[in-house]
Amino acid sequence: MKKDFLWGGSTAANQYEGAYLENGKGLSLADVERGADQYHSRIIDSHVVEGEYYPSHVGVDFYHHYKEDIGLFAEMGFSCFRFSINWARVFPKGIEDTPNEEGLKFYDFVINELLSHHIEPVVTISHYETPLYLIQEYGSWRNEKLIDCYLKFCEVLFERYKGKVHYWLTFNEINETMNQKQPYHQAGIIWKENEDHNLTKVIASHNMMIASALCVKLAHEIDENNRVGCMVQYPTTYAKTCNPKDVMARRIHMAPNYYYTDIMCRGYYSNLCKAYLKRLNVQLKISDKDKEILKNGTVDFISFSYYFSSVAYANEENDCIVERNNPYISTSDWGWPIDEIGLRVALNELYDRYQLPLFIVENGLGAIDEVNSEGKIIDDYRIDYLKKHINETKRAIEEDEVDVMGYALWGPIDIISCGTGEMKKRYGMIYVDRDDQGNGSLKRSKKKSFDWYKKVIESNGEDIN
Ligand code: BG6
Repeated sequence: MKKDFLWGGSTAANQYEGAYLENGKGLSLADVERGADQYHSRIIDSHVVEGEYYPSHVGVDFYHHYKEDIGLFAEMGFSCFRFSINWARVFPKGIEDTPNEEGLKFYDFVINELLSHHIEPVVTISHYETPLYLIQEYGSWRNEKLIDCYLKFCEVLFERYKGKVHYWLTFNEINETMNQKQPYHQAGIIWKENEDHNLTKVIASHNMMIASALCVKLAHEIDENNRVGCMVQYPTTYAKTCNPKDVMARRIHMAPNYYYTDIMCRGYYSNLCKAYLKRLNVQLKISDKDKEILKNGTVDFISFSYYFSSVAYANEENDCIVERNNPYISTSDWGWPIDEIGLRVALNELYDRYQLPLFIVENGLGAIDEVNSEGKIIDDYRIDYLKKHINETKRAIEEDEVDVMGYALWGPIDIISCGTGEMKKRYGMIYVDRDDQGNGSLKRSKKKSFDWYKKVIESNGEDIN
């Protein structure tokens, strides 16, 4: 690994901070999301219902544990820490003229604490925390007014943290806007009756990508040392067989993902994007002004999450079907395929296509941890997962000549799950005493993987065993 390779971990405010109304914070979209229903998807309310349990309200209380947690990250040797700045903590409704000073103070503390440990802050500007007001009153990213609200937020952050924060990510997993049935987390979308879903997804995505391009430009204007990346979920996908129809189905499946990276990295709607819009039967008129904005706001690097791979095939009707079943690989407790080679494939595919530095900002194993009779958590399964994925990252760098800036695994400390709201789906190397009902002391303790990751970082990836 390069000498300045960034090692660390990633989190999101709504899954970690808690203090959901403290010091003037407004409600974000996550604050009205309950845990999972019997189908493991989140229940979304329109307001906070008394007596219901909302995991984001306490998270694992980073708000009051930030010194202790950052101390533990420093002990592992982190050189970077990715977190999001909760938009609704800074602009409670999203429309105010001036930011909430008390909300910003919390991030001053966090950033100063990180810097005192020589940990580079990596900030996700929007990680599933759009203010609820903007969703309910403005219709969220369907509405181009959100672009200005977002930019005002960006400007406050860039001015305030100038010289302190150099790495910024514009929108977490922006491509999930197209992939989700209802992209609530990504774009704050709640379907209206009779709405054309594809059209709305395309418009919301366009507005977000314009916001992202303007954000990149602004970041560079305010501080030429700012480096801004897009952030996508990379869905490594294999054709199920060598039947050319399956190979084509796989290509079609990748289109909604490259749709975003093509626009954000190349600065225009590529042939793939145009073909995809045709397939969706959506007409999008892009003004000359917007074309110019996209051209002038391409990202400096690509950051991405990678957890598992899928397989694609064409059915009898020639529709593209995607499934997680792959007989060659095992799965996690949550049925997610464990495929470390898929990460090497992801790194190669993205680098071949864009030749931009890549930053792995999410990767990890969500698992059930048991505290043994000695009070310890021996998470060899997690070490095994991470070891294999780091090894494939090394191979991509050393054998395939891919430019990788860093590796920030997901949830270095246990936080609530985004997909299910569960606490028992744990990714961390630091255990947090809290359960799915919100019981527990919130006490932090080290798992076996803590010392393992420390050794990996100390040796700059040389000693991963
Ligand atoms: C990514 C998100 O999709 O996956 C994170 O950016 C999320 O917010 C992570 O936590 C893991 O998913 P889950 O559902 O296991 O928390």
